[in-house]
Amino acid sequence: MTVTLRDITAENWRACARLKVADDQQGFVASNAYSLAQSKYEPELIPLGIYDDETMVGFLMYRDEDFGLGKVWAVYRLMVAHEHQGKGYGRTGMELLINRLKAVPGYSAILISFVPENDAARRLYASLGFEDTGEVDDGEIVYRLPL
Ligand SMILES: CC(C)(COP(=O)(O)OP(=O)(O)OC[C@H]1O[C@@H](n2cnc3c(N)ncnc32)[C@H](O)[C@@H]1OP(=O)(O)O)[C@@H](O)C(=O)NCCC(=O)NCCS
Repeated sequence: MTVTLRDITAENWRACARLKVADDQQGFVASNAYSLAQSKYEPELIPLGIYDDETMVGFLMYRDEDFGLGKVWAVYRLMVAHEHQGKGYGRTGMELLINRLKAVPGYSAILISFVPENDAARRLYASLGFEDTGEVDDGEIVYRLPL
């Protein structure tokens, strides 16, 4: 398994838009088509495909933010297509993103949020070192990884 993060381009955006989570996970994450549209009109958002060799198996999207307390990163989306879940792609994709963001100086943390029912996301982020901030944003629990 060789997992990489790759830019979304004119060549692969359709493959990205086709990736879907399971029916009972629809409430956990926006569709990739919606996220790609959002990234076009909010160009601070950076959408990336999670690849295993030449196959896109998942998607993530992030941006930098400054809430007046210094610069942080915010992960807006993470998903692995339902047929590819449970094989380590979500964890490896997040590890690659964390390493990429750690390499950029000047940022104090990575923020990520999830709906309270999303136990898989909670477990994954906790095991990667994210901590509960105690904040709730728009009904979502906010976790933070200090950099
Ligand atoms: C959350 C998600 C990205 C995880 O991706 P994945 O490739 O299936 O996860 P991995 O195989 O890398 O597993 C990583 C960890 O996630 C957790 N996890 C994954 N699936 C789980 C499940 N069905 N139940 C409980 N925990 C689960 C476990 O802690 C797992 O760690 P382990 O390998 O030590 O058991 C994926 O399930 C998904 O796309 N879900 C729907 C969309 C979503 O919820 N996105 C997050 C929005 S904040």
